[in-house]
Amino acid sequence: MYKVGIDKMALYTSHYALPLQILAEARGVDPNKYRTGLGQHMMAVSPPGEDIVTMAANAAIEVLKDVSSLDEIEMLLFATESGIDYSKAAGIYVHALLGLSPRCRVVELKQACYSATAGLQLALPYLRENPTKKVLLIASDIARYGLGSSGESSQGCGAVAMLLSANPRLLALEPEYGVVTEHIMDFWRPHYLQEALVDGKYSSKMYLTLLEKAWQQYCLLSGRSLADHAFYCYHTPVPRLVEKAHQHLFKTQASIHHIEAGLLYNREIGNSYTAALYICLASLLDNTSDDLAQKRIGFYSYGSGAVAEYFSGVIQPGYQKMLHTAFHQQLLAGRQILSYQEYVDFYQFKYTEDGSCQTMPSYRTGLFRLSQIEQHKRSYERVPPCLSVVEGNDAPLMYKEAVR
Ligand code: HMG
Repeated sequence: MYKVGIDKMALYTSHYALPLQILAEARGVDPNKYRTGLGQHMMAVSPPGEDIVTMAANAAIEVLKDVSSLDEIEMLLFATESGIDYSKAAGIYVHALLGLSPRCRVVELKQACYSATAGLQLALPYLRENPTKKVLLIASDIARYGLGSSGESSQGCGAVAMLLSANPRLLALEPEYGVVTEHIMDFWRPHYLQEALVDGKYSSKMYLTLLEKAWQQYCLLSGRSLADHAFYCYHTPVPRLVEKAHQHLFKTQASIHHIEAGLLYNREIGNSYTAALYICLASLLDNTSDDLAQKRIGFYSYGSGAVAEYFSGVIQPGYQKMLHTAFHQQLLAGRQILSYQEYVDFYQFKYTEDGSCQTMPSYRTGLFRLSQIEQHKRSYERVPPCLSVVEGNDAPLMYKEAVR
């Protein structure tokens, strides 16, 4: 049987970030509550004109840079819970922006933060049967809880694009998994709301309860235990919950060393829902100097509502050549820090809903931007390269001139 899994992956997040210290001051909260209590340092904030499509296209174009034949990609799976349309899949916009072959199956997947893992598991049998084909799996989300809400400090945004294939050069997935579905109301967003509703404490409890169930099932089916895994990646709504979860599962045997490198990026980005688990993997790979080849990683995927899955993968020899570390680190280091008022302005930006024409202001949104909404149709475009460079905090917040 062919090995199947992740051949390449890259993440993308907003060029703008709010330090949680600034949020704490604005909310009259001790900054240590966010820094120590939640383990969160910054939240990535999307500017007007950036959405799940532009973030997804930015992550995907980085992954596809050295891919010689885009025609091999016959499936694009787009995992998100920040959908922009009830009918049309967001992946179709990305398919067009990337110039993928018309012979391509495109679909959007939803189950809170879990759906990227569903996409991964659904793609694996297809790749075993079609070992010359590739699947582009993208997770892209913007976490919004509402200004002043208890979930506000756990907001964030980001996208991860993964090229899945047979004989993967990054991570080979193993066949055993533990999966649990339970009908619970811990976090949800009715279609008429812009922000998620959440029972924060209950959601954290259920994250831990389903972790235990999924892990036990996985251990039973695989015959593995703690000692068989070198590192662990978790869905990361807030890093402190991951530390607690790891301790909850492994009690005194739990070590911060198993999870620390994987949490670095999420501490700076915040929750990116479907993308968060895979940002954890990117962070582990980018920030571990030891050779990880042949090391087994345990993965915990949790999507409120709820579906939880435990699975594993083995890092492949030579994986270092497949990493996009410099791109990720440059992106994070070059972000512009927002003031509290700029964060609120971004948050409150209104997209037209009456069919009138709205031309988007030009913020830094990487290589792609939402340029216009007219007659309820979204138009995206490539940003001229001179405007898409990563710049630091001294750059003006937005471009003075419209891009065109
Ligand atoms: P909260 O009300 O912000 O914080 O809720 P808290 O009052 O629970 O305090 C957090 C910790 O800070 C506590 O530590 C405090 O003691 C500590 P703990 O008792 O937990 O160990 N603390 C301090 N520490 C140092 N100095 C201080 C200080 N003050 C207090 N001065 C919560 C936190 C995560 C619940 C909130 O942010 C929230 O509702 N977030 C959204 C929901 C969420 O993230 N749930 C997590 C599991 S569900 C999930 O992962 C799915 C999800 O991603 C959605 C999806 O699937 O699509 C959310």
